[in-house]
Amino acid sequence: MKVLVVGGGGREHAIIKKLRENPEITQLFALPGNGGMTDDAVCVPIGATDVAAITEFAKKESIDFAVVTPDDPLALGCVDALEDAGIPSFGPRKNAAIIESSKAFSKELMAKYHIPTAAYEIFTDLDKALDYVSSCPIPTVVKADGLALGKGVVIAQTREEAAAAVRSMMEDKVFGDSGSRVVIEEFLEGPEVSVLSFTDGETVIPMVSSMDHKRAGDNDTGLNTGGMGTIAPNPYYTPAVAQRCMQEIFLPTIRAMKDEGRTFRGCLYFGLMITKDGPKVIEYNCRFGDPETQVVLPLLKSDLLTIFRAVRDGKLTETPVEFSDGAACCVVLASKGYPGKYEKGYPITLPETVDHEAIYIAGASRDESGVLRTNGGRVLGAVATAGDLQSAVTAAYALADRIHFKNAYCRRDIGRRALQAL
Ligand code: AMP
Ligand code: GLY
Repeated sequence: MKVLVVGGGGREHAIIKKLRENPEITQLFALPGNGGMTDDAVCVPIGATDVAAITEFAKKESIDFAVVTPDDPLALGCVDALEDAGIPSFGPRKNAAIIESSKAFSKELMAKYHIPTAAYEIFTDLDKALDYVSSCPIPTVVKADGLALGKGVVIAQTREEAAAAVRSMMEDKVFGDSGSRVVIEEFLEGPEVSVLSFTDGETVIPMVSSMDHKRAGDNDTGLNTGGMGTIAPNPYYTPAVAQRCMQEIFLPTIRAMKDEGRTFRGCLYFGLMITKDGPKVIEYNCRFGDPETQVVLPLLKSDLLTIFRAVRDGKLTETPVEFSDGAACCVVLASKGYPGKYEKGYPITLPETVDHEAIYIAGASRDESGVLRTNGGRVLGAVATAGDLQSAVTAAYALADRIHFKNAYCRRDIGRRALQAL
């Protein structure tokens, strides 16, 4: 069986490694993949947003199943194009991917179906937005409507900061068209939980919960990043919270999307905040999280391809999805300076005697002599699983400390907050 994965980061590397456990798969392609995953997949230099070229390739290679993971090809209708070309695919169609690609859409959906989230206003007019932030409660949260590489959210501690954020998005267009519309919302407080789920549009099966560490520096200081590390399971996601989430958030969301004629099939990511008034949705993503996937999939005991096919075929109720009782930790090694300016091109030394299953490569490329070199902000994730969280954290750091490249940087406190909660 020939399987294709669209994307090329650490998340895709984790998905590819998991898929490889299925002996039915004889060939795996990554479009574009990266130089760090060439042992696991054939990397083809077709960009993840080049929907026409991806579809052409899939047809030419007679791909049996495709998996589309990044947000932008999903928002561009990559799954629609592949399915139209007769290639069964995992991932939401364009009309469902909007749950991530438009924050205004997702806020309106939640309001209409009474799904708990932060109170909000939506603006398309600069002056009205500025007027609003001149008197709204502070801190406040300003969000660009569209996709902005995870950088379109500003937590404004002062009115000046809020006004500056509104201006940069609506007037200076720092995120292009993504900022022509902004959502300004209530600031929520509480621990954050990421819950990725499989859904075929009817049934929703949450995966093991996780906790991301978004800020660049220890103790949640510094700029927001794509994620500097993760742990799973998240101790704040207690069985009682999980039950409320299922009744108040997960099922209502799946049903709402179906009622809107936008049936969601794929991985729906619930970004939640556990406030004193209960769990609330911070954001939806129409895809696996990165680096959440790097801790969730190593704990998955069931076969991933079987689940993907069941999701696509609407047969999830009949399919076992089981996770181990253990814990996992992912420490991201980044290039110093990320998420700002950083240097790249430095050789990466990986330990020889390690179980390489535990290293997921993201921002790396291979030069002509086969040397793996840094090629991005988040370079790789060092992942360990163990029977308990403390052991997983210790093992992930032990592994991270055996990986070397110039200017390597990681947070030293991944998992600390979770361990304190236990
Ligand atoms: P998002 O891209 O929507 O996930 O936002 C990025 C990060 O900003 C989240 O992970 C939260 O830490 C924070 N955030 C977003 N919305 C809110 C909110 N309403 N209140 C407090 N923090 C928020
Ligand atoms: N780690 C957060 C995300 O994938 O959006």
